[in-house]
Amino acid sequence: MTESTLTGRRIVVIGGSSGMGLATAHAAATAGAEVTIASSNKERLQTALAGLPDGADGLVTDLRNEADVIALFDHVGELNHLVFTAGDAAPPGTVQDTPLTEARAMFDVRLWGAITAVKYAAPRIRRGGSITLTTGTIGVRPAPGRALAATSAAAAEGLVRGLAIELAPIRVNAVPSGTVRTPMWDAIPEPQRTALFATLAQRTLTGTVGEPENIAAAHLHLMQNSFVTGTILTVDGGLLLA
Ligand SMILES: NC(=O)c1ccc[n+]([C@@H]2O[C@H](COP(=O)([O-])OP(=O)(O)OC[C@H]3O[C@@H](n4cnc5c(N)ncnc54)[C@H](OP(=O)(O)O)[C@@H]3O)[C@@H](O)[C@H]2O)c1
Repeated sequence: MTESTLTGRRIVVIGGSSGMGLATAHAAATAGAEVTIASSNKERLQTALAGLPDGADGLVTDLRNEADVIALFDHVGELNHLVFTAGDAAPPGTVQDTPLTEARAMFDVRLWGAITAVKYAAPRIRRGGSITLTTGTIGVRPAPGRALAATSAAAAEGLVRGLAIELAPIRVNAVPSGTVRTPMWDAIPEPQRTALFATLAQRTLTGTVGEPENIAAAHLHLMQNSFVTGTILTVDGGLLLA
């Protein structure tokens, strides 16, 4: 049976102030869900909230701070679905050349942040609910200097499979994405960014980079399809096959 509606469902999007998370928050709110977004930067959060349909709310939450995550779920109370899209800057660098303190810090938001969010969200998720973690195809197909990012992405997939069993009947899934046009890439100035997207698009079967809405659609599917759990739903334009 498919949960046919998101109307009235309580959905929390951590990382919801930007990119894939913001697109997911928008799509869910438009479908009638009660949406709460969370991220660490107050200004970014408020700008995002201003663009969401009425009724959406948000809380400043730094995933590196356990007390913030506890406060977020105390604020939310019971929920139906958690979508996790948060990710901070992950500068390239080989394992050999990266100081260990920096290497460890690369897991703080994407991996430990996800674990912290799940720890405090899970007891509040209503029957039929779900958790979706967002990660990257880099976990399966890394580039040079990206072993640490690959480790974090691959760990998220293992985490999802373990949680699907541990938290059942709560459904837990992952969405690894290929290149998606989001503010994550804004640090690269134009016109280099456009040129890079064109190059990366050529490495896919679809001949495109993704849009945040492509990932949002996958997130909504996983929230609504009550028979999907422990699944890695790759959304990459065929990058892994190309
Ligand atoms: N875009 C791509 O091509 C691509 C490809 C593969 C995988 N991914 C991964 O997919 C995820 C989403 O990517 P995106 O492109 O949507 O990125 P994005 O537009 O940069 O959004 C990242 C979100 O994470 C939040 N965040 C960062 N640090 C945080 C912290 N300490 N606590 C709470 N929230 C925090 C940001 O908000 P604040 O700054 O307000 O905290 C923002 O809302 C990331 O993990 C990214 O690495 C992206």
